[in-house]
Amino acid sequence: MEYLSLFSFSYLDLALLLIALTIFVLRRRSNDRLRVLNGDFRGKTVFVTGGTSGIGKELATRFSELGAKVIITGRDANKLKDVCKTINRCEGYVLDMENPDNVEQWCEKNAKSIGKLDVLIHNAGITMRELLMNTEIGIGQKLMNVHFLSVFALTKGLLKNMKTGGQGSVICGVGSIAGINGLGIRTMYSSMKGSMEGFFKSLASEVKSDNIHSMVIHLGYIQTNVAKNALVGDGSKTFGKTDPNIKKGLPVRECADRMIDSIVLRNSHEVWICNGMMMNIKMFLPKLFPWIGDYNLYHDLKKQLSGLKEAK
Ligand SMILES: NC(=O)c1ccc[n+]([C@@H]2O[C@H](COP(=O)([O-])OP(=O)(O)OC[C@H]3O[C@@H](n4cnc5c(N)ncnc54)[C@H](OP(=O)(O)O)[C@@H]3O)[C@@H](O)[C@H]2O)c1
Repeated sequence: MEYLSLFSFSYLDLALLLIALTIFVLRRRSNDRLRVLNGDFRGKTVFVTGGTSGIGKELATRFSELGAKVIITGRDANKLKDVCKTINRCEGYVLDMENPDNVEQWCEKNAKSIGKLDVLIHNAGITMRELLMNTEIGIGQKLMNVHFLSVFALTKGLLKNMKTGGQGSVICGVGSIAGINGLGIRTMYSSMKGSMEGFFKSLASEVKSDNIHSMVIHLGYIQTNVAKNALVGDGSKTFGKTDPNIKKGLPVRECADRMIDSIVLRNSHEVWICNGMMMNIKMFLPKLFPWIGDYNLYHDLKKQLSGLKEAK
């Protein structure tokens, strides 16, 4: 096999890259053409965890504007009340995802009264900003509970609520590109987001015959307070500062619209949403060429570390 010495990859790799990029661009274009103006959700019920801020709040607002009844969850009763005041047909429930046993009991108590669901979105989440070596085990446990074990408990507890007749229903996890490509000073967060891919895709095979579509949407940087709300290594406070990457990220409204379009389209079990074509390519290339992923990882870590140093 002949190799291009400068980049040390083969002509075959290059041809594959071109084919993949062409398919990628065409798929995106066809998805854009198929843009479904978010569909009609009148008479439908959508459940969004972490609906009190950022992406979850925007999703709840957009689904409601499209006619849905929305059920949102969060840790703070007052925040839930305030958000629900601004959204039509909104119900709020206090549900802390840090304790999976608590989530299981919550489902036993509330599943019946919640009734049938058309869409269930596992959006609640919290990230971190610290090197692994300075992160306490308890923070890892917290992230594991919120992003994984409680997602498992809530999915199991509400599975019988998902509509199976007619158009069926959708269960959607909110993942992160960090879970696919890795991202320094968020090691535990990235690994938990990565676990969502296996979870929602495996589930997809189990629930397909019930007309339930299970999917994961991996997000790139989105303009929310996620960095400000991030945990520091010992959990004593939140990071309290936003990142330049988040500032340049996709506006939250556009993120919500594109997520809803993907939920309506149901044409894949894995969707990526990033800000701009260049970012899509940057995120996608490591799948084809791991060495590009390695370069990105080391390069990003330097930037992340200088941000961390400034914040301290
Ligand atoms: N923004 C990004 O760049 C980005 C990129 C990739 C993935 N994501 C993911 O997108 C999701 C939404 O994040 P966001 O950007 O909208 O951040 P955000 O503004 O900080 O919102 C996080 C939401 O999760 C809820 N939450 C946090 N910890 C919780 C817990 N222990 N139990 C229950 N609810 C909890 C919060 O509710 P309360 O504080 O009211 O409890 C809030 O509603 C997260 O899963 C995040 O990992 C975000």
